[in-house]
Amino acid sequence: MQSTYLKIDRNNIDKSAVEKAAQCIKDGGLVCFPTETVYGLGANGLSPDAVASIFAAKGRPQDNPLILHLADVAALESVARDIPQSAYALFERFAPGPLTLVLKRADAVPPAVSAGLDTVAVRIPSHPTAHAIIAAAGVPVAAPSANLSGKPSPTAFWHVRDELSGRADIIIDGGECDVGVESTVLSLVGERAILLRPGGITKEQIEEVIGQIDVSSAVYQKFDGTAAAPGMKYRHYAPRASLCVVVGEDDAVIRAINSKEKSRSGVLCFEGESSRFEGFEAVITYGKKGDFASQAHMLFDALRRFDELDLDRIYARADENRGVGLAVYNRLTKAAGFDIEEV
Ligand code: TXA
Ligand code: MG
Repeated sequence: MQSTYLKIDRNNIDKSAVEKAAQCIKDGGLVCFPTETVYGLGANGLSPDAVASIFAAKGRPQDNPLILHLADVAALESVARDIPQSAYALFERFAPGPLTLVLKRADAVPPAVSAGLDTVAVRIPSHPTAHAIIAAAGVPVAAPSANLSGKPSPTAFWHVRDELSGRADIIIDGGECDVGVESTVLSLVGERAILLRPGGITKEQIEEVIGQIDVSSAVYQKFDGTAAAPGMKYRHYAPRASLCVVVGEDDAVIRAINSKEKSRSGVLCFEGESSRFEGFEAVITYGKKGDFASQAHMLFDALRRFDELDLDRIYARADENRGVGLAVYNRLTKAAGFDIEEV
């Protein structure tokens, strides 16, 4: 298949390009589009064939369910049932935006979307281009991140083009994604709400609306066989070189990294501290220390840039795991396969 590229400026949306993308989805095709978190690979979420083609294009394991993207809260009742009050309260506060809720699946949603589970994940993106396409398609849009399975999520057009050209009918160039890490996933189907994946809407923000929530153990450690988000068991975001996250007091961490074998090794650190690492083959930064939003925005791009180099080992600096910092820490330690060295 030959992919068509369409450029859409979020501040001046080209209606005919949106119409082409929406028509493609209605016809059962695959469209890569930007969201406020990462790029998505979207298809008609009510068509089992279209959903199957998403799994095929990404090489995604069949047991990892997809998120349905809706244009507005009004569409919620067509895809979920027995919706708790907490879902409305959370969407009232955070939709449109980077929050995905896991609810009970309505019969209208093909089981393939949810990999056979009786639940369904839904979110309402705030990116104007994503919103326009979903609204024009007039169906819930099933969309995982637009990367090959096992690669970091794409946060810029070139990430998608390099990986999915020839695998999607349309690839939209919408520039860079703001948040840079995938949406927060919160399950509301059990007795207590469980944070399955931290993201741009923080645990602290959610707790302001619905009170204390639990955090899945898979957020902090390797999958132990019990995590509720099937996606958490896969080694995501893995760069080609092995990654080790070194944590501790700043000066001690920098000293510890500088004492490592430097040949064929690189360092992932914060802006302004590159010059403190000597002799490594590459030093790449991801945002400013203490500024979790800038780290989230740049992390996946930094991991992809390491993949362009021929290295065996990467040593990474990490910040605190609170607020959006929890999402950054989670993606970084997952990329490292939870290889964390404390100094
Ligand atoms: O920001 C995002 O969420 C992006 C953009 C494109 O919207 N999408 C995204 O999709 O990250 P994906 O497929 O890469 O990740 C979806 C995550 C996976 O970890 C999956 O296991 C989990 O959500 N998930 C989906 N449906 C679920 C369900 N019914 N129950 C539990 N977890 C679910
Ligand atoms: Mg993904």
